This record gives sequence, C-alpha cells and structure tokens, in this order.
Amino acid sequence: MPKAKVAIFISGGGTNMAALLYASRLAECPYEVVLVASNKGDAAGLELAKIEGIATFAHSHKGMERAEHDTVMERAALDAGADYIVLAGYMRILSEEFVSHWPGKIINIHPSLLPKYKGLETHKRAIDAGDSHGGATVHLVTPELDSGAILEQVKVAIVPRDTPETLAERVKLAEHQLYPRALSAYVGRGSDPTYLLDKVRELALKLPETRERESHGSPGFRVGTEKSGKFFAHFNDQHHGSEHVAVLVKAGSMDELLSLVETQPGTYFKPAYYGASGWIGLILNRPDVDWEHVDEWLERSWRTVAPARLTKLMDAADGF
Ligand code: GAR
Repeated sequence: MPKAKVAIFISGGGTNMAALLYASRLAECPYEVVLVASNKGDAAGLELAKIEGIATFAHSHKGMERAEHDTVMERAALDAGADYIVLAGYMRILSEEFVSHWPGKIINIHPSLLPKYKGLETHKRAIDAGDSHGGATVHLVTPELDSGAILEQVKVAIVPRDTPETLAERVKLAEHQLYPRALSAYVGRGSDPTYLLDKVRELALKLPETRERESHGSPGFRVGTEKSGKFFAHFNDQHHGSEHVAVLVKAGSMDELLSLVETQPGTYFKPAYYGASGWIGLILNRPDVDWEHVDEWLERSWRTVAPARLTKLMDAADGF
C-alpha cells in the first residue's frame, strides 16, 4: 500500500511532531510527513522540520477571521498532497467548515484522559482533582472541541510532588510513544485484516436473516435458516498465496466476472477454486476502498441466494 501523506500542524515546541517524523522513518511505517505547518513563524518545531528536510509553512492567525486563517492552512496541506491533517500541539480551534472538509482525516493529541478535562490546563485540573493518573488521548477531530472518537489513550501516574509542569513532562514522554503508534494503526487500518473483516461483517450482517458461518477455515456469511442457509459472501485473508484481503461475492455470470477482472484488475480478481463457480473477489487491502460499492455487491450477492420472501421484503423497503 502507498504511504498515507500527513501534514502536521504545530504551534510550539513540536516534540510530538518530531516523534511522529522519526517514527515515519522507521521500516514499515504506513505514513510519511509531507508538511509541517504552523500559525507561529517562530515555532521551534518548524526549524527542526526544515533541518530534517521537511517542507514547512507558517502563517500567523493575527488579525484574521478564524475561517479565513483555516483556509490558508488548509491550502498549504492540500498543496502538499496531504491525505490527513495531524494536530500536534496546534493551539487553535478549527472552524466547523474546515473540519467538515476532512471527515475522519484530522487527528489530534490531547494531554488528558478524555472525556476528562477538555480544553486547557489539563494537568493542573487532574492534580487539583486528586486523580491518580493523568495521560494523553489520540482522537479524531470533530467540530466540538476534544470530543471526536477516541483512537488510543495512555495513562501516566501522578506522583505526590507533581506540579503541572513535572506531570506535563512525563505525559509528553508517553505522548511520544502513543502518537506514532495510534496514527500508524489508524492510517494503516486499510491493510489490517481484522479491521477489514469487521467492516465486511457489519455490512453483511445488516442484511435480513444473515449469520456468520466458517467455511474452509475462513469467515463466511449465509442467508436463510441455520440449517438450510446459503453463502452469499466469503472473507479471504491472502488465501492460497494471493496477496489480496478480499470479500468474495457472486457475480451475475462468468462473462461479467471475467470482464470486470480484465478491465478493473485493481478492484477485482478471480479467486482460486471459488472463481470457477462464479465467485468474484473484491479487493479490500487497497487505498480508499469504496465501502458503499462493497455494500452494493453484498446486497446483490445476497439477492442471488436469499429466499423470495426476503427479497420481496427488500424490494418493498427499497420502494420507499
Ligand atoms: C502536547 O502535550 C499536546 O498534547 C498538547 O500540547 C503539547 C504540545 O507539545 N496539546 C494540546 O494541549 C491541544 N489542546 P509539543 O509542541 O512539544 O508537541
């Protein structure tokens, strides 16, 4: 899989940016840093990024409307070809419009165990509350501050003489471990068979009267009763030496199967053994899988084997 391109936004020291950058240089890291951008021209992290040969960009927010400044930063990320925007100590609240352009594509690290202590002074608030632990959270960014889906967290014990400063220092050490790992898992999820199976399972099992049943050692999905159900999908994780993680569904005919495989070899393949009986492979371990397309194929395949009483219900539901 090609590496995901990330633009890192910073406002200060940039130690998390450095941790992300150095992790990106290790073998098999699924992302590369294409830009480090800041709202502060003198942010220390910009200097380091430059020395490390990374493109940098800075534009002060002073005297600008929030949305206007966001647009300037966004332009820089787009020009650098970024797929993801990664906030690392970027001390600006993003406008709703900016966030809406990047659904699931902006990630942030926050120095608390969210949902506790959104906003500022997180370490002081944790110490004042007598908490046993502080920590850090990597989460997706949504318009509401520090509230998007949590990807991963790390706990850091609070010791008796901790001040906000001493705790912040240890939390940063933990953040430097957490952020590259959480970001890698998130941007690399498209080649993770567990994540891909979960997605297929979610779509397959929302169709009427379906259940999961193993078939030749792989997860399969059937429609109908426990006893007489029929398979409409098989999940294959690099089966029989194939490099694909895929879901197999029923093609309309052998002609359709062969023509799709020939014209769109990046999307379809003819699976060993199953291909002969009309199953076509939809490749899942590739960038930007269109899950609506997978969903449509699953429903189509389901229709080919589902009892008429169920397809009629489905037609009626589709008619609304
Ligand atoms: C980090 O601790 C990060 O969690 C925090 O700022 C620090 C940046 O340090 N972020 C926030 O408070 C965001 N609301 P760094 O510049 O050395 O990476």
